[in-house]
Order: sequence, then structure tokens, then C-alpha cells
Amino acid sequence: MPGVQSSLNIIHLGPGNVGKAFLRILLEQKKLIQSVFGIKIIVSGIVRSDKYLFSRDGLSDKEIKKVINKDENLRWLNTPGQTHIKQLMRFIPKKSVLLDTSASDKTVDLLIYQLERGGFAVVSNKKTLISELSDRKKFNPFQQSFFYETTVGAGLPVISTVKDMIESGDKIEEIEGCFSGTLGFIFSELEKGSPFSGAVLAAKELGYTEPDPRDDLSGIDVARKALYPEEMKRLSADEFLSQVHRLDSGYKKRLSNALRERKTLRYVAVVTKNKTEVSLKEVQISGDIGSLKGPDNIIKIRSERYKANPMIIKGPGAGIEVTAAGVFADLLKIIRILRA
Ligand SMILES: NC(=O)c1ccc[n+]([C@@H]2O[C@H](COP(=O)([O-])OP(=O)(O)OC[C@H]3O[C@@H](n4cnc5c(N)ncnc54)[C@H](OP(=O)(O)O)[C@@H]3O)[C@@H](O)[C@H]2O)c1
Repeated sequence: MPGVQSSLNIIHLGPGNVGKAFLRILLEQKKLIQSVFGIKIIVSGIVRSDKYLFSRDGLSDKEIKKVINKDENLRWLNTPGQTHIKQLMRFIPKKSVLLDTSASDKTVDLLIYQLERGGFAVVSNKKTLISELSDRKKFNPFQQSFFYETTVGAGLPVISTVKDMIESGDKIEEIEGCFSGTLGFIFSELEKGSPFSGAVLAAKELGYTEPDPRDDLSGIDVARKALYPEEMKRLSADEFLSQVHRLDSGYKKRLSNALRERKTLRYVAVVTKNKTEVSLKEVQISGDIGSLKGPDNIIKIRSERYKANPMIIKGPGAGIEVTAAGVFADLLKIIRILRA
């Protein structure tokens, strides 16, 4: 078909835990994508914090596998910064994808550059959306080309469901729930008898936390209400992890008080048109929020249409594999747009 795009170039920022799992899915699925949609996926660049690989015609599967396997025997080049990445992007078609699975707070300009030139962007990187409100607003004009489903509830379909409800004329009145898989995991480990520090270290080990777990414990993902004292902000991430046991007795006491009333602790967010409230709450252990287990999220959406009975989305809200699959699902949405 003349004029129909038959290939799609990707520049991938951040081949960390989520990024590598994404690349693994991509290698497994790209043949199927080509046969079902007639689109060849070309990974033109992979960018880390200080180095990159680039080939306009696409990195080979062998090179991508080496990235996944952390084989340093690759021709990484030093990155002189974001401006340099912008220059690389000029070598690939505008209708390409900038895919950000990094944990960097410095990618907003690059993403906006890509969107403004008519390209697509996919992010799992929450920092792009929780920095300054002025930065967040820069993404508003690009609702049809910017995909960020995994920034809320990892692989759960939260953003797309809310968007569908709004676009079909429903009016959202309140969204309540536990939006942080990491905090959900930590408080359900506490219930099992783990100390707070042990739960934080286990969450990091399992890949649920951000590289610096204080990004989760600060509550910034969920709109802030820190779970550690102000003075611990000054520590490095490693110092924090070695001192987090100082918080154990406080959480143990608060949990045992709650358990005496058949309650437990959950980090609950309530969002309405006029307010956003986030806090560690004592909730009934048998209720839908109190009975959450591990990294599960629950998102209860009350709207004009779902008034008496809210729409409930529930499932793992953190995890490398589910997040990577969610990123891949966002990529599929772009492929479907190109094929429409
Ligand atoms: N894990 C989850 O359950 C989950 C769920 C939802 C969303 N997320 C989000 O997914 C993102 C990735 O999480 P992760 O667990 O995979 O983190 P990670 O393992 O720490 O990986 C981060 C990657 O980002 C790269 N990076 C850092 N600065 C960069 C920059 N300026 N440009 C390009 N790359 C850069 C790092 O490069 P180096 O290799 O050079 O250090 C590393 O490869 C995070 O933003 C997180 O918020 C994670």
C-alpha cells in the first residue's frame, strides 16, 4: 500500500530492569508484529545514563541481546547529554517512538521535542510526570501520541479506562485507592511480621522500588506524604538503606495498635475535583483496601455512571515483568494507530 508506514524506529532510553524486560518481549514478539501488522520494528538507539548505542538502520538482535545480558562487550559511545540525543533523533523518521524506561528526571525536553516533531512517546518513567506541574502540562496537547499507562498501576489499565470513561461522556467524581504497588507490598509484609526495614529491602530486591526507595516512601508517586522523617532526606540512598531500621519500632507499634481493632495500615489516596488526600491510614482488615496483598493496587472509580457501585481495577501495581508488558502494550497502541 503506497504511503503506509512499513517500519517503526525506536530510540529506547533506560535499559534497566523494566527496559531490559521490555527488550526481551520485543525480541520475542517483533516477528509476530511484522506478520500481523506489516510493521517492522527497528531499534535504532539504546541510551543509558552516560552512554549509547546507535544505528540508523537498527541494532542487531545480537547487540540487543548483549544489552539484555549486560554484556559490556559492545561499542557503547559516551553521551555528551540530551542535546546529542536530539541530534541522533534527527537521523530517524519523525513518525518514530521515543521510549523512556529510564529513572531520569531529565528526559522531559527530549520527549517534548519528539512529540512536537510529530512523533510518538511511551514512558514508564514516572519522573517525567511528577516533576514540576509546568512540565506535566507540556504533555497535555499530545494525548493522541503520548502513552504513559504504566506510570499508574504498572500494567493495570488505569489511564486508558479513565480516558475511555471521560471520552464517552462520563464524569469522574472520585478516585480512591492504593496506587503504589511498592507501598502495598511493604505494608502487607509488615502484617506478616517483617520489620519495616526488612520490607523496604525486600521490595528493592524484588525490583518494586525506584532505584532510590525514598522516591516510593516519599509518596511522590501518589502525591506526597512521606513515610520517613525529614532529616533522612539528607542521606544518600545507601546511607538511607543502612539506617531505615530506625523506623522499625514506630511502624511495629502503629500496626499492632491497628490490629487490635481488626484494622491494618494502608497508604490510601483520594482524588476528587477539588482535593487530593494521601496518607497512611488505619483501614478495616477485611475491607477491599485492607485485604490487598503484596504489590496489588486497587483503584475505585466513582463516576456519574458508576455511582452506587464504583468501577474497580485491582491487580499487581508494581513488578518488572508486568510493567514491561504494559510498556509493550503502549507500543502496540501506536502500531494500531499507524495501521488504522
Ligand atoms: N519497577 C516497577 O515496578 C515500575 C513500575 C512502573 C514504573 N516504573 C518506572 O520505570 C522506570 C525504570 O524502572 P527500573 O526499575 O527499570 O529502573 P532501573 O533498573 O534503575 O533502570 C534505570 C535505567 O535508566 C537509565 N538512565 C538513567 N538516567 C538516564 C538518562 N538520563 N538517559 C537515559 N537512561 C538513563 C539507567 O542507565 P545506567 O544503566 O547507565 O545506570 C538504567 O538503565 C522508573 O522510572 C520507574 O519509575 C517501574
